[in-house]
Amino acid sequence: MAVRCYDGRMNSETKQMKIGVLGSGSGSNMQAILDAVKAGTLDARVVCVIADVPDAGILERGRRHGVPSFYVDPAPYKTKLDGDAEARYIAVLREQGVDTVVLAGFMRIVKRGLLQAFGGRVLNIHPALLPSFPGLKAWEQALAYGVTVTGCTVHFVDEGTDTGPIIVQRAVPVQPGDTAATLHARIQTAEHEAYPEALRLLASGRLKISGRAVTQQF
Ligand code: GRF
Repeated sequence: MAVRCYDGRMNSETKQMKIGVLGSGSGSNMQAILDAVKAGTLDARVVCVIADVPDAGILERGRRHGVPSFYVDPAPYKTKLDGDAEARYIAVLREQGVDTVVLAGFMRIVKRGLLQAFGGRVLNIHPALLPSFPGLKAWEQALAYGVTVTGCTVHFVDEGTDTGPIIVQRAVPVQPGDTAATLHARIQTAEHEAYPEALRLLASGRLKISGRAVTQQF
């Protein structure tokens, strides 16, 4: 891995974390983060949201909550954020004062330029217990495999796909009769606790990465 992940430095200053969210979908994870901020359980500010889909629900949600919300053209790529498109995203995130990038249902692979621009402070949520079921529709993969427990994972993003050091995981049982929809809904409920929890840990400034392991320093 050529890009180092977050090294804990920013939080040695007592700066409030400024989150920029990237998403492609409905934005329920961003909502959970906004709710945690509003409830005073997460010391951070969501300073902008960017979507790669012009009518993504996450943009409407952001606007309803007074968060500067932008569609930024990801062309010409279909599955990654690279080249000029990556530069456009970095420019908006910087203009908005972002120090921490939160991928919340962003359906693209982010590349080295974005990771370097934010010093490894880029997080993602994945709807399975990594390293099981990386990639798309992880809840369908879990059902097809026949596991009885799956879950969600919040991790630092590195240059792989769903491979970065793990911050928080929550287990979710697979129930008899589950469909893709019921299982995904149960995983999402767990996600809505896990993402604010991971961000609280990051905001505490005590996270340290040793190899693949993320630990808390006291
Ligand atoms: C979540 O299930 C997340 O794990 C996956 O995409 C979904 C996004 O949902 N990466 P939302 O847009 O936050 O509602």
